[in-house]
Amino acid sequence: MQFKYGSTGGDKNFGIPFPVWEVLPVLFKDKLPKGREDQGWGAFGFISETFADKDEHPRRPRPIGTTLRNYMGIERIFLNCAACHAGVVTPAPGGQRLVVLGMPANTVDLEGFQNFLVAIANDPRFTADDILKAIDNQKVDIDIINRLALRFIGVQQMKDLIIGIGKRFEFTTAEPAFGPGRFDTFSPAKALMAWPFENIPAHERIGVVDFPSVWLQDKKRSMWLHWDGNNNKLEERNRSAAFGTGANFPLLDRASVKRMEEWLLTARPPDFATTLKVTIDAAKAARGKVLYESACANCHGATGTDFTGTFVGKTTPIAQIGTDRYRFDNYTYDLMLNQSTLYAGNAEERFQNFRKSDGYANMPLDGLWLRAPYLHNGSVPSLRDLLRKPADRPAMFYRGYTVYDPVDLGFVSRPDQIPDAAKAQLFCYATNAAGLAQCGANAPDNRDTCDAATCKGNGNGGHDYGTSLPDADKDALIEYLKTF
Ligand code: HEC
Ligand code: HEC
Repeated sequence: MQFKYGSTGGDKNFGIPFPVWEVLPVLFKDKLPKGREDQGWGAFGFISETFADKDEHPRRPRPIGTTLRNYMGIERIFLNCAACHAGVVTPAPGGQRLVVLGMPANTVDLEGFQNFLVAIANDPRFTADDILKAIDNQKVDIDIINRLALRFIGVQQMKDLIIGIGKRFEFTTAEPAFGPGRFDTFSPAKALMAWPFENIPAHERIGVVDFPSVWLQDKKRSMWLHWDGNNNKLEERNRSAAFGTGANFPLLDRASVKRMEEWLLTARPPDFATTLKVTIDAAKAARGKVLYESACANCHGATGTDFTGTFVGKTTPIAQIGTDRYRFDNYTYDLMLNQSTLYAGNAEERFQNFRKSDGYANMPLDGLWLRAPYLHNGSVPSLRDLLRKPADRPAMFYRGYTVYDPVDLGFVSRPDQIPDAAKAQLFCYATNAAGLAQCGANAPDNRDTCDAATCKGNGNGGHDYGTSLPDADKDALIEYLKTF
């Protein structure tokens, strides 16, 4: 519950007054993604649970990944770790979807959420009058203090805050659309330090990444992690993450973050076979284990729970791994220096363990089946595709569909596997201009980043380990990786 709904402290800074949060997707329905106007905040892929006992769970349901606290008299809601680190899987088409904590938030479109907030803050209906009227129409419970606060300060304050943040987030205009399950990690840090966007070299402007999984942190403590292996201290990675939720050092709720941190130390991914109610072919998996041990284990760990291996938690140089380099170039030596000046007076908590690395991290593969699409930018939809030569990997596929494909290991993503009606609500991912053209009417705005070779930041090349294996061996390797 703490991981799903606990606070990092960022709500004190950016929290949206709860009654306002409740009415925004109704009052500004017209600005929600097309075809999803009736889904409330679910229109951006936020996941909600139902609670039987309303008294025990006041102000619910609200999406997993949101926190609520009363700060200076106003009940405020904002995002926490689970907004980006909890996802859903639907074992069978039409079946019930399961919420999995610690997996990448595969449905959540934070860029869409952010654009919505900016659009409504600039809308003439964003006034205390209209919002309070909507609160009364929707019969949202609001006390006199909150009502007065909204009328005289809250709404205007929120509008100013959102418009201010929106201006700082202009870096997204140089990147391909993020879509669900992705965000740019370090450009916001540059924006918050007020680096003039126009002075950032073009090749350093794109940093879009897939959300990673965050299980079993205890065993990953001193590994060089983040996609580019730029930090080797668990607590510091978490503090840096909390920063992303608006919790700067004065606001950071240390006790609450500590509870989540402790829970993540041993939190484990769910088991593939029991969750999907399928069986793993033991003989085939045993053959796959041998292949894995010779071709992968040195970099990715002995098994899905034993992370020993010569190169695990270290990086593979960018020229050798050959995957899309934009995220690597986005994190710079200059940014590292600037990060270490933050709160320099606080010897214990200031950032001291960041570095500019030489490539991407060799990370453990725990819960691999739920981490699709694969690679740091989420450019390869299934494990089977990752074992294909880069030129044979799909140039377009859909993201955000939660039905699982237990054969290829990934979420169902091919256009011929998804009903047309569903496609319009999903995100069409393109790795190059030809892929973008294939998206047709569902093509996202990739902001002129695409040419014949790649959409910058979305490239699916590199990591060609295992791609020359015969098909039967690939099958065996995939079978074994189901046990991770
Ligand atoms: C806005 C979305 C977002 C939120 C909120 C968020 N994270 Fe993350 N997290 C990310 C992204 C994106 C990365 C990948 C960073 C990179 O390397 O570019 C990441 C990376 C991590 C990692 C490193 C994973 C690895 O193996 O490399 C940990 C640990 C982590 N987050 C924990 C947390 C915790 C704890 C919180 C809450 C305090 C949190 N995150 C909040 C998006 C988020
Ligand atoms: C020399 C080290 C090295 C070897 C050998 C290696 N990998 Fe990797 N692997 C990496 C690196 C580095 C990344 C991250 C690349 C990126 O995201 O751009 C990665 C990423 C991955 C991912 C994506 C993980 C995710 O969460 O998206 C999978 C899956 C994977 N490797 C599987 C394998 C398999 C299977 C083998 C063996 C056939 C293998 N790797 C061999 C270094 C290696």
